[in-house]
Amino acid sequence: MPRQPFVCGNWKMFTRAHSAKDLAAAVAAGVTDDRVRVAVCPPYPYLAMVAEVLRGTRVELGAQNLYPAREGAFTGEVSPEMLQDIGCRFAIVGHSERRHGLGEKDAFINRKVRAALDAGLGVVFCIGETLEERQSGQTHSILTTQLVEGLQGIQAAELPRIVVAYEPCWAIGTGQNATPEQAEEAHAYVRGLCRQYFGDAAAERLIIQYGGSVNPQNAAAILSEPDVDGALVGGASLHAEKFLAIVAAARNS
Ligand code: PGA
Repeated sequence: MPRQPFVCGNWKMFTRAHSAKDLAAAVAAGVTDDRVRVAVCPPYPYLAMVAEVLRGTRVELGAQNLYPAREGAFTGEVSPEMLQDIGCRFAIVGHSERRHGLGEKDAFINRKVRAALDAGLGVVFCIGETLEERQSGQTHSILTTQLVEGLQGIQAAELPRIVVAYEPCWAIGTGQNATPEQAEEAHAYVRGLCRQYFGDAAAERLIIQYGGSVNPQNAAAILSEPDVDGALVGGASLHAEKFLAIVAAARNS
């Protein structure tokens, strides 16, 4: 069974109420078949209004983060149940900006994955090495640690609800994307790891997105690699026409 490509827009801390609605509407208008799974992840304050815009369209809503508890005295945090309640299908977990900018560790990320699944949400689980780690030959060991610790306790039967996003930190927001060969090498390694931990069938079905400076110019080459099943798009997802061009590249991949 071929894997359905998945292109997800991570809007990060961008847009305002009006532009978020306009962007969601423009993306939804451009997605007219199910060949590619498409989602957008707006900032928290705009999730509910974007959910309204996306209602009845083919574009899914995702969150950029969650806190690993059902409810409680956690000032400023948002639970997976709340995200589920307002129409999110999944949440991004383990993004490098949270790992490195906000100090999130693998064990905490693992709690988030568990909490999301328990609440009925899917997960886009991000892993990736820094430039220093790549240059010192540690890419595989970093990917192994992040994957094994982040997905600790997850059962093979739960893997279909998880998407792995390989996002080399040095490629995020830098304009310096991984080459198709670099992406394929890392993706094949990640799929091999999943084979080892979750078995052949689950690993074969696993969607592995590439993220890091994906744009309409480089998308086709990256997405044509056999183990690259989609993209997690930051900057280019803020422009409907660029994002839709990446979706089109995925459709033809
Ligand atoms: P970028 O971000 O496309 O702007 O590099 C990707 C991401 O952080 O998910």
